[in-house]
Amino acid sequence: MTQDELKAAVAQAAIEYVLAEVPQGALIGVGTGSTANYFIDALAAHKDRYRGAVASSEATRQRLEQHGIAVFDLNEVSELPVYVDGADEIDAGLHMIKGGGGALTREKIVAAVARTFVCIADASKQVEVMGRFPLPVEVIPMAREYVARELSQLGGKPVLRAGFITDNGNQILDVHGLQITAPKALEERINQIVGVVTNGLFALRPADVLLLGTPQGVQRFPG
Ligand code: A5P
Repeated sequence: MTQDELKAAVAQAAIEYVLAEVPQGALIGVGTGSTANYFIDALAAHKDRYRGAVASSEATRQRLEQHGIAVFDLNEVSELPVYVDGADEIDAGLHMIKGGGGALTREKIVAAVARTFVCIADASKQVEVMGRFPLPVEVIPMAREYVARELSQLGGKPVLRAGFITDNGNQILDVHGLQITAPKALEERINQIVGVVTNGLFALRPADVLLLGTPQGVQRFPG
């Protein structure tokens, strides 16, 4: 199976999860990226069952609206039963690195509101120790060089994502060379650096369910 076929399979498994677990008329939190796009496309067939969606990025909002799915501002929403999104890496504790697509801040906000975070990922995303994928850190532009120096002191090699501006008008430093053995502590430590908006570690709020696409079929964690 190709990686795209694995992504499509986990997206379909997430639709089945949503149909089984999320009551009719609810809102669905929707993530960003190529795996989330498969989920959006599959969700379109069930759009009349749900009130609409909350989007974690402008790209996702546009794709949802192209399918005729109503998109709600998170500020209008007090309850979100589920958030479905991909990941760049995920470990056995369902901690993740996210933000390869640059949407980490809005993703983390929507994930914070959601009752259940369902991560959809192909098998290439599963790792023992996170850090091979560079950790994205969204920064206020004027703080960029200060934050980069602080991140270097933590042992990483920050690289500015050239030509990229987030939906929030900020920049991203991708931090290479980290071996993330204590993801919660590192997430908290990076959050303490003045000028950091968000870092792409989702450890304090990990996924609740992982649907992992493998050549042998979709596996669900916890089992
Ligand atoms: C977007 O900012 C990311 O957090 C994505 O969820 C992550 O990069 C996974 O993307 P793919 O599904 O495209 O691999």
